[in-house]
Amino acid sequence: MASEKSKILIFGATGYLGKYMVKASVSAGHPTFVYVRPIKPNTDPSKLQLHKQFGSMGVTIFQGELEEHEKLVDVLRQVDVVISTVAVPQHLEQFKIIKAMEEAGNIKRFVPSEFGNEVDRVSGLPPFEALLENKRKVRRATEAAGIPFTYVAANTFAAYFVDYLLHPGEKIQEVIVYGSGEAKSTYQPYAVLNYEEDVAAYTVRAATDEKVANRVIVYRPPRNIVSQLDLISAWEKKTGLTLKRTHVPEEEVIKLSETVPFPDNIPVAILHNVFIKGDQTSFELTADDLEASRLYPDYKYTSIDEFLDICLVAPPKPKLAVFA
Ligand SMILES: NC(=O)c1ccc[n+]([C@@H]2O[C@H](COP(=O)([O-])OP(=O)(O)OC[C@H]3O[C@@H](n4cnc5c(N)ncnc54)[C@H](OP(=O)(O)O)[C@@H]3O)[C@@H](O)[C@H]2O)c1
Repeated sequence: MASEKSKILIFGATGYLGKYMVKASVSAGHPTFVYVRPIKPNTDPSKLQLHKQFGSMGVTIFQGELEEHEKLVDVLRQVDVVISTVAVPQHLEQFKIIKAMEEAGNIKRFVPSEFGNEVDRVSGLPPFEALLENKRKVRRATEAAGIPFTYVAANTFAAYFVDYLLHPGEKIQEVIVYGSGEAKSTYQPYAVLNYEEDVAAYTVRAATDEKVANRVIVYRPPRNIVSQLDLISAWEKKTGLTLKRTHVPEEEVIKLSETVPFPDNIPVAILHNVFIKGDQTSFELTADDLEASRLYPDYKYTSIDEFLDICLVAPPKPKLAVFA
């Protein structure tokens, strides 16, 4: 099965997480391939730049649409492992990738685009639940097609959410706290914030690791489990700032998720799920569960404390769009 040198094909490579994934795959020494939308006269010049960067990293670029079935099958026959990081609106479009993988018949591992909560063990307010349900549908379609899989529950992206919650780099005096600032889950009332670089590195390892074949892997490293209040206090200590905490009560967050129009209702429902309900740590990991930092103890992940140090020096600037 997949060895160190498995050929990895990435869908969504030009996206936020996708760029980290390409870098992680190349860094781990895998022959790396991307399937990207064709360059057109109106394509954003930054995408052209990105294609050039991929080229200079030795990445093989295939241009095509997800609708081009024959082309997809042909590309898939040239690789071993498929990692998808397509955007939220394209989650169900992954059925096209699954159909093509089924026909190609050679794919040793598929990692669908999830990278959030463990979707088969949690539920959210309706705008978030719809998203979770799409991810479940992709899981079930993968299983029905008989394609070996790895499902990644990466929990929360640190750069994304720290930027949203703490605005590092700006001289802020006030922060919004969702609910009490301590999530309500009974097991460990916290969120899990993982640096995107680690999410990608763990994923490339898991996607080529026999132990994670047909399994879910959860990214819950002990030093990344925090409450919103912990995060604020840690940031205050590092910056010397004193931040006013303005609490938005849970009822108000729920109401907002019902009244704010789509797609802005999605981040509201996610904030509720992660920081108020505490779904990311609402279930205990048993000896049977695969947790990334336990499975790969040799990999030095970035703790949330270390990530805040990075923010002090050069805060990563993630795009803020609909997240999940
Ligand atoms: N847990 C968290 O905190 C968190 C945060 C963010 C995202 N996520 C998850 O991470 C995954 C990736 O999200 P992201 O924010 O990285 O996504 P993104 O940056 O919005 O986009 C990802 C990719 O989707 C491609 N795409 C868009 N429209 C397409 C279409 N019609 N056909 C084919 N490809 C298309 C984009 O290609 P172009 O470059 O050509 O447009 C891009 O490469 C998602 O599953 C999301 O749920 C999790």
